Amino acid sequence: MGIFDDVLKDNESLFIDEIALDFDYVPKEIPFREEQHQYIADCIKPLFSQRSGRNLFVSGKPGIGKTVALKHIFRELKVKTDGIIPIYINCWKKDTSFKIVNEICEQIGYKWVQSKRTDELMRSITNILNKKQVVFCLDEVDKVKEVDVIYSLAEDILKKTIIMITNEKDWYAKLDSRIRSRLNVEYLEFKPYNYEETRGILKKRVGEAFAPNVFEGDAFEVVVKKSYENKDLRTGIFLMKEAGNLAEMRASRKITLDHAKMAVLKLESFKIKSSADFGEEERDILDLIKENSGKTAKDLFELYLKDGGNKSYRTFYRRIEDLKRGKMIETEEVNEGFAGRATVVHYTKKLSEF
Ligand SMILES: Nc1ncnc2c1ncn2[C@@H]1O[C@H](COP(=O)(O)OP(=O)(O)O)[C@@H](O)[C@H]1O
Ligand SMILES: [Mg+2]
Repeated sequence: MGIFDDVLKDNESLFIDEIALDFDYVPKEIPFREEQHQYIADCIKPLFSQRSGRNLFVSGKPGIGKTVALKHIFRELKVKTDGIIPIYINCWKKDTSFKIVNEICEQIGYKWVQSKRTDELMRSITNILNKKQVVFCLDEVDKVKEVDVIYSLAEDILKKTIIMITNEKDWYAKLDSRIRSRLNVEYLEFKPYNYEETRGILKKRVGEAFAPNVFEGDAFEVVVKKSYENKDLRTGIFLMKEAGNLAEMRASRKITLDHAKMAVLKLESFKIKSSADFGEEERDILDLIKENSGKTAKDLFELYLKDGGNKSYRTFYRRIEDLKRGKMIETEEVNEGFAGRATVVHYTKKLSEF
């Protein structure tokens, strides 16, 4: 037997749409959140009659449908009107005023950003956006390092709704009172799904992702159980994808209990620290590694210094070791010939990024 003989042919794939298992996929239906979706929509509605909308603070544990709620609402909004501009910003990625303002420019197609200061750009976007209505969604808002930018949006943009999302319920209460009184938010909390809801959502996802009847019942129940235990739907979606891949690799025409169990084992090995457990210094270094995965520790250190880092190489390297222990990164020793040995650093994708 040849080593590739067990490859399934294209038309035998267990998946009909693997994209349906990506975390940023927005499914056709998003059940069990109708009330929350309506609440968010109600905050936006005044914008339809050229009045200012209400601002909203959304909180709730990770993996329970906050981001997908907003993406779904933005999708509907775009179909309904051109008069309201939806701007979605992931503040984990865009965490400074500069990055946020530049992202807004990019999303509204404003191109004259070269060599302009943040306040100048803010003035330009204010002029443009004040001719229309805007909904800002600042997702993972607790990651914003300079909250003044939120104040500027609240103060300068006239007809808008600002929606802030976070896993950290107390974040808003700790915000500067000047910003809070400007924002004057409504609150909306997402609660975790119960067992049946978890099951219902995952069932629909199986239907979108896999060919009919390939996911065996007992395998599916393992996925639901684990996802419910973790109170995080991403667990279930991750397990379905892993189990499917394992089954395909073994040229199985069904996804069986064994495949699901193996996927669970893989999940456990992902039980890594969340980056929130690290201090700011480590997080900055982690961000650097994330953007430059595969570079050597020495090269990363150069970039770190260029970015304004002020620690010695020894301290920097110690942080790398901390991150490695937390399984946020992996390192690899390579031989660089003359130059001796070097440590190459790889970013480890977190479960939430699959
Ligand atoms: N009610 C739902 N229906 C369908 N899929 C959902 C639902 N709630 C969450 N999901 C899915 O679960 C995953 C996690 O949801 P997400 O919105 O990213 O969580 P959060 O932003 O609360 O951390 C996403 O893949 C999302 O599509
Ligand atoms: Mg989210």
